[in-house]
Amino acid sequence: MTLLSAALTSLLAASAVQAGPISRRAAAGLNAAAQAAGLEFFGSATDNPELTDSSYMTILNNSDQFGQITPGNSMKWDTIEPSRGTFSFTKGDAIADLADQNNQKLRCHNLVWYNQLPSWVSSGGFDNATLVEILQNHITKEVTHYKGRCYHWDVVNEALEDGGGYRDNVFYKTIGEAYIPIAFAAAAAADPDAKLYYNDYSIEWSSTKHQDAVNIVKLVQSYGVKIDGVGMQAHFTVGQTVTQDAMESAIQDFADLGVEVAITELDIRTTTPATYDALTQQSTDYQTVVNACLAKSACIGITIWDYTDKYSWVPKTFSGYGAALPWDDNLQTKAAYDGILSALGSA
Ligand code: XIL
Repeated sequence: MTLLSAALTSLLAASAVQAGPISRRAAAGLNAAAQAAGLEFFGSATDNPELTDSSYMTILNNSDQFGQITPGNSMKWDTIEPSRGTFSFTKGDAIADLADQNNQKLRCHNLVWYNQLPSWVSSGGFDNATLVEILQNHITKEVTHYKGRCYHWDVVNEALEDGGGYRDNVFYKTIGEAYIPIAFAAAAAADPDAKLYYNDYSIEWSSTKHQDAVNIVKLVQSYGVKIDGVGMQAHFTVGQTVTQDAMESAIQDFADLGVEVAITELDIRTTTPATYDALTQQSTDYQTVVNACLAKSACIGITIWDYTDKYSWVPKTFSGYGAALPWDDNLQTKAAYDGILSALGSA
């Protein structure tokens, strides 16, 4: 052994001893780091068209990065039951099969939502009893089809208006607020093992809408019906992300009712083209969210709304915005990725 290599060997041995958490951080992907930090998973949404992109799939399939996947569209009402009584599970099955192959958990999304709802439901002019039957039938068929495969179900999605108060959708107009416990009861009956979630955005800090989401949990519970969790979508904007304290106390409000919380659709958008400063701030903002989740035992996992800017919904939805995810358009990691990993690693 030369003097130089002996010196190098002892240097490496010394740094291995001192740098335990640092070497774990360097080796781990997001899910491995999240699990080491005590979360159940770090996951990503995905969608059928992307499944043919082999470079994309290499990263998605890596369960060290993602321990959970959510179908971005393929389990929604318009895909599953496009006309009354006609069910089409092919696209949803593809995502469920992928989760199985990769040994990833599946967050099934979603059963009842005013959006991506076929017009035969929204404009059908059904009376209360008929719409209850349609709602129960849809939920029973879909949840039964995926029975045993959905770790979570987003049972009701976005039942609240932006400023709070019930969204005046066809279910609320026809059935009243009882459509929510009715939906949870049907899901619980069809798959007693799935964890049942209410999922919404702008409930990540104290606000009228947050309080109304708290009341939805209480409503379902008051019917003696099972609700296991609340999904905080967490679609944020760089520099306007919730503070860690506010998010922790919002999580605690749900924990106080005995339900868990998951961050279900995290992305943090910025105006495009994104500047270096914006991407640096974005990394800080991602860390804020991760730190809030880690600080609260009720917060059990984090899902980003797809992992790459290449397939983000943001540019299509918020004009002038994009670059919201930890991987860029070329599937390269950004500062946000390092930020998330370091927040998870320093837990
Ligand atoms: C989005 C999908 O990502 C898009 O592809 C689709 O065009 C519209 O819906 N809140 C939700 C998700 O609960 O279902 C939405 O997903 C994003 C906002």
